[in-house]
Amino acid sequence: MGEFDGRAALVTGGAMGIGGGIVEAFAAAGAAVSVADVDAAAAAALVERLTAEGRRAIAVAGDVSSAADAQRMVQETAAALGGLDVLVNNAGIQPTASYMTAEAMDEATWDRIIDVNLKGQFLMAKYAIPQLRARGGGVIINVASVQGLQSQPLVPAYAASKGGSLSLTRNLALDYAAENIRVLAINPGTIDTPLARGAARAFGDEDELLQTWGAAHPLGRVGMPADIGAVAVFLASGGASFMTGEWVNVDGGYMALGAWAVGTQAD
Ligand SMILES: NC(=O)c1ccc[n+]([C@@H]2O[C@H](COP(=O)([O-])OP(=O)(O)OC[C@H]3O[C@@H](n4cnc5c(N)ncnc54)[C@H](O)[C@@H]3O)[C@@H](O)[C@H]2O)c1
Repeated sequence: MGEFDGRAALVTGGAMGIGGGIVEAFAAAGAAVSVADVDAAAAAALVERLTAEGRRAIAVAGDVSSAADAQRMVQETAAALGGLDVLVNNAGIQPTASYMTAEAMDEATWDRIIDVNLKGQFLMAKYAIPQLRARGGGVIINVASVQGLQSQPLVPAYAASKGGSLSLTRNLALDYAAENIRVLAINPGTIDTPLARGAARAFGDEDELLQTWGAAHPLGRVGMPADIGAVAVFLASGGASFMTGEWVNVDGGYMALGAWAVGTQAD
């Protein structure tokens, strides 16, 4: 018996990348998993594979930035899996065409990034909380970013969305602590996903850039989706029962390294 046997977890953006790693980790821990994604075909393919491995998984299709979709994805999940214990707000976008100054950014680009990355987390939480309450408590995990703590140039909307995600995490944690609903955030460093590879392709040689980005992390590599999945499962587990309103950097030491110290590490 796994700790999550009989429990249900919904992972937004669960079809691939970090979300895919989180889905796999919860499924391996015994949870029934709902793969919630705009890419219905990719979600269905992952669910088919998990089901073939004897896991319990369903796919629900929708856009987290739409209130109607968010509500329906939660309802379909609770109906199919008999309730909901864990929500992982992972879906997020960082379009390569959006790297620009605030002056250059058009309103629609700003709105789309904030809508998916921040409003989507609010909407999914809004509709999931009654389901968590019905179970006597639960866990919400928001995937933010190290970019919620420190910024890089040319990402005004993305940086703001991730800082907002960390603030939303603290607020929800306070508002629902009395109902045994814990709310936590994970700040990934660079993780090898379709999103990161797309960014690498836009700016140079894909493998070379991932190698370079990995070398900038004190642990000397980029992370893998499974690295985030393992931490998400821990945060949702009884072992983390006294944690709420907090973030965890899963970044190979990136946030520990001062900008002034880059290049001074002993090899
Ligand atoms: N990859 C990294 O280096 C990195 C670093 C820090 C934070 N993050 C964050 O981690 C999360 C996942 O990133 P990733 O790299 O795995 O991305 P990805 O693009 O590789 O995968 C994202 C998944 O989310 C889905 N998705 C996108 N928009 C959606 C929407 N509106 N509604 C529902 N599903 C949607 C996509 O179809 C896809 O399956 C994002 O929030 C991202 O900001 C990623």
